Amino acid sequence: MSQEAARGASVAVGDLNLEGAEKTASVIQEAGGVAIAVGGDAADAAVAGAAALIRRELGSVAILVNKAGVTACQPLVSMGEDAWDRMIGINLKGPFLVTRELVPDDTPLARQGPVDIGAAAAHLPMKRAGRPEDVAYAVAYLASEEAGYVTGQTLGTNGGRHLV
Ligand SMILES: NC(=O)c1ccc[n+]([C@@H]2O[C@H](COP(=O)([O-])OP(=O)(O)OC[C@H]3O[C@@H](n4cnc5c(N)ncnc54)[C@H](O)[C@@H]3O)[C@@H](O)[C@H]2O)c1
Repeated sequence: MSQEAARGASVAVGDLNLEGAEKTASVIQEAGGVAIAVGGDAADAAVAGAAALIRRELGSVAILVNKAGVTACQPLVSMGEDAWDRMIGINLKGPFLVTRELVPDDTPLARQGPVDIGAAAAHLPMKRAGRPEDVAYAVAYLASEEAGYVTGQTLGTNGGRHLV
């Protein structure tokens, strides 16, 4: 946060812990930067209100850092559903809600309208939309004996949409 402020950005520090956010904002202000603290739960739809406040106070959004997160330091086999729901709620739903409300204004993501899948697929390196069997082959590989030593991977099956 202070790195962004040092480069001239106004910073909204959002955190469930308002006191902590205020301390961070003070550090930035004391160093001559512009900062506000906003308390709130990143995994709650009320984040829309915080987003409106931030735009009102600081103007358009240029950079978004999704940093709120929690870790459940326990083995999966002994983890309760409550701990799982909390972790997924904050770590997964949180960035969805925050990004939806605060996606930087000048990005293709913010400007994008409805997409014509057929037209979009024509621009893929493979020149076509994905078929169910494309995914099935990837699943078959990951589930095969041959992939017995492959763990924890994400196998991109996207026709070249993500090349890196
Ligand atoms: N610290 C590391 O080395 C490290 C490494 C890899 C991944 N991570 C991941 O990064 C995330 C943050 O880790 P950290 O070490 O900075 O933790 P941290 O506890 O120091 O900071 C997390 C911050 O998020 C805030 N927060 C928690 N839930 C929130 C919510 N619902 N809404 C708004 N704010 C919320 C907390 O108040 C805290 O200020 C975690 O998901 C962690 O697993 C951390």
